[in-house]
Formats: sequence, structure tokens, C-alpha cells
Amino acid sequence: MNKEELTAAFTAVYHEQPQGFYFSPGRINLIGEHTDYNGGHVFPCAISLGIYGAASPRKDEQFHFYSANFAKLGVVTANLHDLKYVKEDSWANYAKGMIHFLQEIGAQFSHGLNIYVSGNIPDGAGLSSSAALEMLIGVIMQDQFNLPLKRLDLVKLGVKTENDFIGVNSGIMDQFAVGMGQENRAILLDTNTLDYQMVPLDLQDNVIVIMNTNKRRELADSKYNERRSECERALVQLQAGVKIKTLGELTPSQFDEYTYLIADETLLKRARHAVWENERTLRAEKLLQQGQLAEFGRLVNASHVSLEYDYEVTGKELDTLVHTAWQQQGVLGARMTGAGFGGCAIALVNKANVAEFEQRVGNKYEQVIGYAPSFYLAEISAGTSVLK
Ligand code: GLA
Repeated sequence: MNKEELTAAFTAVYHEQPQGFYFSPGRINLIGEHTDYNGGHVFPCAISLGIYGAASPRKDEQFHFYSANFAKLGVVTANLHDLKYVKEDSWANYAKGMIHFLQEIGAQFSHGLNIYVSGNIPDGAGLSSSAALEMLIGVIMQDQFNLPLKRLDLVKLGVKTENDFIGVNSGIMDQFAVGMGQENRAILLDTNTLDYQMVPLDLQDNVIVIMNTNKRRELADSKYNERRSECERALVQLQAGVKIKTLGELTPSQFDEYTYLIADETLLKRARHAVWENERTLRAEKLLQQGQLAEFGRLVNASHVSLEYDYEVTGKELDTLVHTAWQQQGVLGARMTGAGFGGCAIALVNKANVAEFEQRVGNKYEQVIGYAPSFYLAEISAGTSVLK
């Protein structure tokens, strides 16, 4: 959407001109899945699909929220002194959560805003539409009220909104990738220290194809929180014999020495995934930097295998897409991306093979699952920004 289109759409809802324009990207994660709440590494990048926003100041203390993606809901309103979670307010809860937590860290607002958003990112599809929205609202608030905040402050408020307002105990990967992303860079983030490195994404003759299962899921109703607590229980059992604060501190061989401490097969599998996935992520980043894309692709495949059998978050739809992708010409690697349980997968595909790839994977998926998947080509883009 350009500014003219945003202005027209905003004016149709609010009958006045917007005073600011914004864009917030979604993200894919190349590798490093379900490691961010285990003190491990992740390797995501922001993408050009995302959410556009426009805003104008109001004279009263009301916030008005309108999303073109939830047009049936109409305008959701809330007083700035009464920003509570209300189930029926759906997407607007993410916005309310951000504004609420900005107030909690001391920001003061003398008036409300009219806010319009419109996304071209599929909702609930594992591309972080929720983090995109949280960061969008954060940047709108910062810009409209001149808040002296660092980007990392907004990233942390996004996580807080997810954890304490929405009720998903997610880690920091999504908000970090969305808020800090740079064009053609992947972010190697150590979620323990928050040290990070911007890594040039040189894919040679290949592109990243995003494959959407079109199986929508809400993380709040998924087994996401259960996986997180399984990892916490495994950690507690390990701590009886080894001094660590997170699973991410163990190399696979150190982990191996202490597996006797975990007295439960399920917990063992969850922890094994977290430890090995962290190791794979570190290796994958090096391989990418060295241009060793075939080896990089195999680690991407290994990540999916581990998420399928040890972490058990893939499901028939994602497995069908990824297993079929593995069999196609010109494919270096494929895996689910994001939380899993439906949502999206990614494949690293030679440019020359993309059309055939989409056709074959699409046909097979439709045959097995009964409806079609969607495909998008990922452009790696910058983080949330004010449109100048
Ligand atoms: C979701 C969460 C992230 C991360 C991924 C899995 O996207 O929001 O924090 O845990 O799942 O890697």
C-alpha cells in the first residue's frame, strides 16, 4: 500500500486525514526454532509482507482501532485509562496491550488516536502477524507522542504484550526480527544475552519460497505453552546434576552426558530438540557465511526432522509440504518456520525451478490435504518504520 491508498482507506473510516504512515514486516525464521525461550540462538529475517498503518490524533481520551483485515468487527474503541483485554476485541487486544505497557513504563498520553491498519500478511500463519502488529503500534505511539524509547524497549514491550496480555508465553524472536530487521540480512540472535549479528543473506541462485498450509491456528489455543513448560521441567531435572540456567548453555555432547537425569521420554525429546537445534543454528550461520548452501540446506532439513519427531509441533499439513518439497528438483532444504501446528514452511529453491516446484508441491498437497496451499517469494526487508 502506498500513502495515497492508505490516506483513502483511512479517510473512508475516520473522515479526516491521517497524520502518520507506518509499515511493520512479518518474519520468517531460517533455523533455530523453539530455542528462543530456551536461551538458544535463532536466525530469522523480516520480510516484505506485513502490516501498514496510519494514525491521527483525537481530541478526547479514546483510542479507535480499525483493521481492514477484520472489517466485520468495525471500529474497536477503548479509553486510555481503561485498556483491558476483552476477548471480543480480537486483534485490537494487541494494540491495547502495547499502549497499556507503554503507560506502565511511564509514558503519558493526553489524548487518544485514530488508528487504521491493513495487512497483506496472512493472520495466524506463523509469519508473526501478531509481532508485526505489536511493533507497528509501538512505532505509531513513539512517533505520535515523541516517546524517547529505544527500539529494543518496544521489542520487549511486544513480548510483554504477548506473554502478559494475550497469554502466549512466547520468546523474543518475533518482535526482535520484526523490530530490528534489515534488508537482505538475517539476524543471528543469542536469546540469552541479546547479542546479535546482522548476516548478509547471499543465496546465490536460490530464493526462499514461503509455503502456507492455509491451516490457521491461534497460538493461545495451541500446545505452544505446553512445549515451553516441558522444556522448563527438563531443565529442572538436569539442574539436579549440572549448573545451567538454560538448555541453550549445553552443547549436544554435554547434554548427552547428563541425559540420565531426565526421567521421562517426552521431556528428553523436547530438551534434545532444544539443544541440537541451537547447535544446528550456530553451524548453519557459519555455512551460510561461507556460501556452503548445500550443507546449510541439510541442516534446515534436520531442523524439520527434529521438530517433527522430537518436538512434535509439525502435523500432517506441514509435513506434507516439507516432505514433498524435499523430493523436488533444485531444492536445497525445507522446514516449517515459526511455532508450527499449521502455519508456514520455507524452502530454499533454485530460481529456475520455482514454477515447477510450486505446481508439484501444490498438487500433492491438495491431493493429500484436500485444499490448496499458497506460495509467496520472500523478500528480506527492513524492520518496522515510519513511512516518509
Ligand atoms: C513463535 C513464538 C517465538 C518462537 C517461535 C518458535 O513464533 O512467538 O517466540 O518461540 O514460535 O521458534
